[in-house]
Amino acid sequence: MSVAVSVRGVSRSHGPARALDGVDLEVEAGQAVALMGPSGAGKSTLLHLVGAMDLPDEGEIHVGGERVDDLGRRGLDRHRRAVGFVFQRFHLLPALSLLDNVLVPVLPRRVGFDRRARARALLAAVGLADREGTLPGELSGGEQQRVAIARALIARPPLLLADEPTGNLDSATGQEIVDLLLSIREEYGMTMLLATHNPEVAAACDRVVRMRDGRVVGDDRVTPAADVLDRIGRLG
Ligand SMILES: Nc1ncnc2c1ncn2[C@@H]1O[C@H](COP(=O)(O)OP(=O)(O)O)[C@@H](O)[C@H]1O
Ligand SMILES: [Mg+2]
Repeated sequence: MSVAVSVRGVSRSHGPARALDGVDLEVEAGQAVALMGPSGAGKSTLLHLVGAMDLPDEGEIHVGGERVDDLGRRGLDRHRRAVGFVFQRFHLLPALSLLDNVLVPVLPRRVGFDRRARARALLAAVGLADREGTLPGELSGGEQQRVAIARALIARPPLLLADEPTGNLDSATGQEIVDLLLSIREEYGMTMLLATHNPEVAAACDRVVRMRDGRVVGDDRVTPAADVLDRIGRLG
């Protein structure tokens, strides 16, 4: 399950600061898009708007064909459940076990699946199968981010938003986390929007959108290395 994202003429100001200034962005269902650009470019603001955690001053945002910038309370709740969010600073709850941290998004509501079984399966999928009773403080940064990814996926969101998910990790661990996100994306067919400063992380995505001063200033499809090798092979 995946959804297309459409951002049309979106502007957002924070006081006098224009965080987004007429942004247009079309993302195909299933695509993994890296948002790059210097600090203050508007990457986080754009992710928050797509997740309906903030509202634009102008323009429209559609996710899966539904307009999400003018939803009522119920529509907002529904949309937010369809979006997984991964942050730079993990935001795990320190007094809860890893299993309970993964369960947090689905605790307050009725769901049509066995939540503990799914949480266990997700912890296994992120490489933490035998650690469900552990507290977050006992984990490395990379391991904490793995838990945060499992938590983001508990409701099988068709859209995953990640705001500098490797920003607090060393480069090798960061690469592992991105590889994990991309393999999960492939398995679930999610659409992914990922803000990053790291060119290697961006290059692992399908497409790199560059932002500066609240505008989109570049948009490149990444050619996967395998395609290049295949083409060279055919030429030879
Ligand atoms: N809550 C806020 N209050 C005031 N200004 C903000 C707020 N959030 C973002 N900004 C401003 O909006 C601009 C874009 O910020 P942001 O979206 O966080 O950029 P990025 O994530 O690319 O670093 C910056 O100038 C920032 O200072
Ligand atoms: Mg940011």
